[in-house]
Amino acid sequence: MESSPSSPSFNNRALPSRTIPVIILSSLLLAVIYLVVFPNNLNLHDVVFASSSCSNDDATTSSGHLSDAAKQQQPVDVRIFLGVLTTPYAYERRALLRLAYSLQPRPTRAVIDVRFVFCDLEKEEDRVLVSMEIIAHGDILILNCTENMDEGKTYDYFAAVPKLFSDEPYDYVGKTDDDTHYRLAALADTLRDKPRESLYHGFLNPCHADRKTQYMSGMGYIVSWDIAAWISATEELRHERGFEDSLFGWWVRKAGKFKNVYGEEPRMYDYWDREMAVEVNCFRHELMADTVAVHKLKDRLKWARTLNFFNATQGLRPSKMYDINRLKSDMYHV
Ligand SMILES: *[C@@H]1O[C@H](CO)[C@@H](O)[C@H](O)[C@H]1NC(C)=O
Ligand SMILES: *[C@@H]1O[C@H](CO)[C@@H](O)[C@H](O)[C@H]1NC(C)=O
Repeated sequence: MESSPSSPSFNNRALPSRTIPVIILSSLLLAVIYLVVFPNNLNLHDVVFASSSCSNDDATTSSGHLSDAAKQQQPVDVRIFLGVLTTPYAYERRALLRLAYSLQPRPTRAVIDVRFVFCDLEKEEDRVLVSMEIIAHGDILILNCTENMDEGKTYDYFAAVPKLFSDEPYDYVGKTDDDTHYRLAALADTLRDKPRESLYHGFLNPCHADRKTQYMSGMGYIVSWDIAAWISATEELRHERGFEDSLFGWWVRKAGKFKNVYGEEPRMYDYWDREMAVEVNCFRHELMADTVAVHKLKDRLKWARTLNFFNATQGLRPSKMYDINRLKSDMYHV
């Protein structure tokens, strides 16, 4: 395992703890002086956090008390491209996913670009409406293929990304479904200290089976850039047919890169609640706090319960315009 290459490697343990407040105070003083002398050159956050982030590194990761502005000042140490494979006409689901991802707490020291991915637009209305979405959100990737299930869309996606971003490669490329909700901060935290080569991360399926037969479930998986690049360069894979996610596992083996394999059971799972007629098992259980991804969010109610569990409505402010809780009594408590 390699340590994250660009993470700050400041050794504040070598300093006696009393000197840390002194360093912060003197940085603040410098910042104030700087602002008085050059008021238009920098904003306060740049000065304070650029000079104190070293002494605060431990405080940030353990107590999480720094503001969002402070977090954003920290160097990025992991970059992930996450494609949500969907169809052009899934407008409502895209709107919901955008909303859910935009209200999640920002991942720290990570860039995760979530993009909706589908094949060519064949209908007149989709060409217009999707163009408008692209103008407004800029988060859609259209592949050169026709919509299909198990006919090479996974190949098309993994083949396209390394070519599109060869000038600025990501550390990892992921693929997920439009009925999966990844928690991006948790995902970044599990990946940042992992190897940047031969990495295959997700939910190992079938669970508890012989490793030789396992592959990452279609709920979502992440691979290191080298694996995506190998797929992209191996044109013959385009014509292989089969169940796409197990086929993908076979490609990772064929590349000789089935090495740094990380299964996230139980932090990735299918949605389950007490009202469902199925049993809990190794891949399906109740929502849990340190979730990386929940899958099988097939309807609005499942999405709502999941997002509520993860406190997506916490930012709602009281207003005379609404009273959301007026009819709360019938709510199911997960
Ligand atoms: C799209 O795919 C078709 C069929 O494989 C190919 O003929 C065409 O050149 C491709 N177009 C682009 C823009 O890559
Ligand atoms: C949601 O917020 C409550 C209250 O602040 C907290 O106790 C709970 O742990 C949060 N849930 C999750 C999943 O973070």
